[in-house]
Amino acid sequence: MDKKEVVLTGIKPTGDLHIGNYLGAIEPSLEAAKVGGGYFFVADLHALNQENSPQKLSRHVWSVAAAWLASGLDPDKHVFYRQSDIGEIAELSVILSAITPKRLMNNAHAYKAFGDRNARRGKDPDSGINMGLYTYPILMAADILAVQADIVPVGKDQIQHVEIARDLAGRFNRIYKGQYLTLPNYVLAREVSAVRGTDGQKMSKSYDNTIPLFTTPEVWEKIVKKIVTDTKVSQPEDSAVFEIFQSIASKKESAELLADLRSGKIRWGEAKEKLYNAIKDRFGRMSEDYFSWMDSPEKIRDIFEKGKAEVKPIAQKTLNTVKKATGL
Ligand code: ADP
Ligand code: TRP
Repeated sequence: MDKKEVVLTGIKPTGDLHIGNYLGAIEPSLEAAKVGGGYFFVADLHALNQENSPQKLSRHVWSVAAAWLASGLDPDKHVFYRQSDIGEIAELSVILSAITPKRLMNNAHAYKAFGDRNARRGKDPDSGINMGLYTYPILMAADILAVQADIVPVGKDQIQHVEIARDLAGRFNRIYKGQYLTLPNYVLAREVSAVRGTDGQKMSKSYDNTIPLFTTPEVWEKIVKKIVTDTKVSQPEDSAVFEIFQSIASKKESAELLADLRSGKIRWGEAKEKLYNAIKDRFGRMSEDYFSWMDSPEKIRDIFEKGKAEVKPIAQKTLNTVKKATGL
């Protein structure tokens, strides 16, 4: 069959993005979608599990949409939509729940990690766990199966979820004896080792060590200046300044900086200057685009409307097939 493969990625609207998110998730997904028809959506229903402030949720939806558009997602080449606009996804999720073994959810890692954390803290294992988190993989399977996606580019942490979607599609097809749902495959988004934060740990919003993806040069400069450079670091390659530089700059530039630091030709002050310039060169223009998208919510709304019009008929077709198969 020479049908173009359907590539789909969901983006959860949580928090403000940092450069680790861009290098580890946004850029590789856009890269992966180049090979086929790309479907990108803002997974706002998924975010409900962890965000109870309507203002924050709504701000994050606009912000993540602006982020993807500023990063080069072309709404004329790719379909870009908001999950909650496609009611068929939620309906499919209910139908899939009926054939999902509870055990499959018990073993899903996002839920398990939460339970393990509770156990470590001596809390009730179910403390703070809602059904949205517990059944997260079913909704994610519905996202994937509703558009009959062939390929889902993901980071390592999401592989299990795509495998669950594949399992559920196979299960549905077996139970109702037909090829109703496409079995999706994951592709591991380009393997990027974790981008380091300003303290040398993995950059993460949970560690308060991030370099924001979208901000002004002044803020970047201030953050870079504050990176602690431990003078005891005997190997410059172990320093946060160098490691962050390496994630952004070319191999050649990184090798030069390392050699200059080792030989003592340049000091940390200059290395920071180089890092600041590298950040500005790589993300400056993108940041400006981001702010102009944020100033044009009506444009984003139009893009979501267009995406909705494109995806809804596809999801409706899948849902009709599935309902008919079940006897509904
Ligand atoms: P955070 O750790 O800041 O909470 P998330 O868990 O929301 O980030 O991650 C969103 C996406 O960004 C995931 O695909 C994740 O793999 C990627 N990502 C997050 N931090 C990094 C990092 N430091 N380096 C590379 N990729 C990252
Ligand atoms: N679970 C993904 C994350 O946390 C987001 C997501 C939701 C997704 N639905 C999806 C990713 C479907 C790929 C396909 O990052």
